Formats: sequence, C-alpha cells, structure tokens
Amino acid sequence: MPWVVRDAVRDVNRAVGRRWQAIDPLLPDPAALPTGCGAPLVVNGDNGRLAGLGVCVHHHIPAESLNQTWGAADRFTLVPRLAGQDVGAPADLLLTHWRDHLAVVGAARGPDTSAGVVWPSQDITGIRALLRHGLQPLTVIAARTRPNGPPAAPRGGYGVTIRPAGLADAERVLDLELRLIRYDMHFGGPVWRAATDRLVREEILSSLARPVTWTWLAERAGRAVGLLVAQPPQDSGWIAGMTSLSPAAYLQTMFVDHAERGTGIGAALARSLHAQLDAAGVAVTLLHHSQVNPLSGPFWYRMGYRPLWTSWEARPASALR
Ligand SMILES: CC(C)(COP(=O)(O)OP(=O)(O)OC[C@H]1O[C@@H](n2cnc3c(N)ncnc32)[C@H](O)[C@@H]1OP(=O)(O)O)[C@@H](O)C(=O)NCCC(=O)NCCS
Repeated sequence: MPWVVRDAVRDVNRAVGRRWQAIDPLLPDPAALPTGCGAPLVVNGDNGRLAGLGVCVHHHIPAESLNQTWGAADRFTLVPRLAGQDVGAPADLLLTHWRDHLAVVGAARGPDTSAGVVWPSQDITGIRALLRHGLQPLTVIAARTRPNGPPAAPRGGYGVTIRPAGLADAERVLDLELRLIRYDMHFGGPVWRAATDRLVREEILSSLARPVTWTWLAERAGRAVGLLVAQPPQDSGWIAGMTSLSPAAYLQTMFVDHAERGTGIGAALARSLHAQLDAAGVAVTLLHHSQVNPLSGPFWYRMGYRPLWTSWEARPASALR
C-alpha cells in the first residue's frame, strides 16, 4: 500500500475510533482492518477525500465445526470503517460497492450463505442504509459492566438449588442445550445440522471433564430445570476485542424449562454467575441474544445488560440488494 493511502487509512481509523468513543465508551478502538478477499472497498466524500472503507472477508465454516450450527456455512462479512458525524450516505455507498462485489463471487450465490455486518448498536445513523440494502438485525451482543459498590447477595429462585454440573449431568445438560438451540432457531440464527447433536454432546463432555466447571444447573425437587454456561476470561479471548473493558467473560447459554419460566430461576442463575464474576474483578460480561427473541431481550436488560453490537445479515448472501 503506498504511504499516502496508508496515511489516509490511518486517519479514517483514528476518526472512527473518536466517533465510536463518543457514541459508546464500551466500544473498543477499531482494530487494524483484516486482510480481505481483495483490495478494500473505498468510499470518497463530496470533497473527494477518503470518507470510509470496508473489507470483505470470506469464511467457509466446515460441517465438522459446531460454529456451522450458529449460521450459514459460507459467510461473507463486511468490516466497515466510516468516518463523519452521520455515516448514512457513506454506508449506503459502501454497501452498494459490497453488493456489486459479491454479485460476481460464485460462492456467494449458494443457498447456505450469508452476507453480514456487525454494527455498533448505538450507531443509529447507518441503520436506514443497512435496511435499504436488505440486511436484517439478527443478533445482539449485549454487555453488562461490573457494578460499583458492594456486591449484591445472590438470591435463589423459590425452592431452587443451583449447583455446578459434572460429567454425570452430561445428558441433562445436553437436553437443555438442544432445547435452547431449537427455541433459538425460530429467530433465524442457528441452523440444525446433521452433526449438531453429536458436536454439542462432544463440547459438553469436554467442558464438564474440566477440573473447574463453568456450567451450572438449577434444580427443583431434583429435576434439572435451568442451565447456564459461561466462559471465564481465559476462554473469552475470541470475543474480548469487541469491548474496551477488560477482563471480559462470556455468557454462552441460558435456558429455563418452559413450565418453570417467570418464577425467578433465570435470575437466580444469572445473579449467581454475576456474583462470582464481580468478586473475581471481571470488568464486563458479554453475551449474544437473538434480536427478536421476545424472552431474552427483556430478561437480559432486566439483569443489567444493554446492547453493544448488532449483527445485520442477509441470508442467503444474494438477498443483499
Ligand atoms: C430468558 C429466560 C432464561 C428467563 O428465565 P426466567 O426464569 O423465566 O426469568 P425470571 O423468572 O428469573 O425473571 C427475572 C426477571 O426478568 C423479568 N423477565 C423475564 N422474562 C421476561 C420477559 N420476557 N419480559 C419481561 N420481563 C421478563 C421477570 O419479570 C423478572 O423480573 P423481576 O426481577 O422484577 O421479578 C427464559 O425465558 C428462557 O429460558 N427462555 C427461552 C430460552 C432463551 O431465550 N434463552 C436466552 C437466550 S440468550
């Protein structure tokens, strides 16, 4: 890259960093742009100067990866960097360039594909452009910061015991985990794959075999009625870069049996995890939830979380317009 271009890219990245901090202090500094499938897509402002750019990253998720259950097998992701107060117009131009770019990529025409952009939830000026190009808000990364002041005492749900799960609980954990995936499939995110059942089982067995488990069951009268799985900071590096605070933990799974909902079990599981994370000095906890799941959003926002990033997707990728 010639130095003039490199300087211009650096200036845009700096401007984006200032903008993100003003919009939401939990956003990180924009990372260096990843290597994309080709030259960056470039947007120039009215004054002819660089107003933004974006990189298209192609990702094939193999059938043997549990990650394939969480979305399309071939994912085309736009990583945008847009400067300025109102990014509506440059976002529109960038998405137009990206659509034209994907239109000539053969692999983006298949049925098991997605075109996605992860957008700061508070960055409202680009949302109309995302909608206009056929993208839908699918999932949210929500964040809870460690509260100041003395930790709240965890409260149990009525008649409910919370305990760490062990290897002997593998079938109970599997049952709740698979029910969560089936529930979440209603909202267009996960895709049930031939290997889903087996891969989830393998992941559960390997995590329950660890000396310290981050999987908890809620039991009522000896019956498993709720599940919470988390990742401590040492396992959350894959998502930690999505926020300015550190250390970050990740809340991976939460499910309460249908007949037991609304009785305080979910809150008891979440509060018990939060008490542990707060005591350990974990600055922020992140989680994903489906944007249109009518249960998860209200519940998590009641538990102290708020939106940080929103994943916008067109599925299949050819639905990008
Ligand atoms: C989301 C879920 C875990 C909540 O568990 P729960 O045991 O029903 O929640 P609780 O009874 O502990 O509710 C805790 C608080 O949140 C509130 N709340 C829970 N769900 C709510 C909803 N859908 N709308 C409004 N408030 C809600 C409760 O009123 C309660 O408030 P309070 O503290 O003032 O009493 C449960 O509904 C569930 O398993 N849903 C299906 C799977 C799912 O969506 N998982 C999350 C994936 S990210």
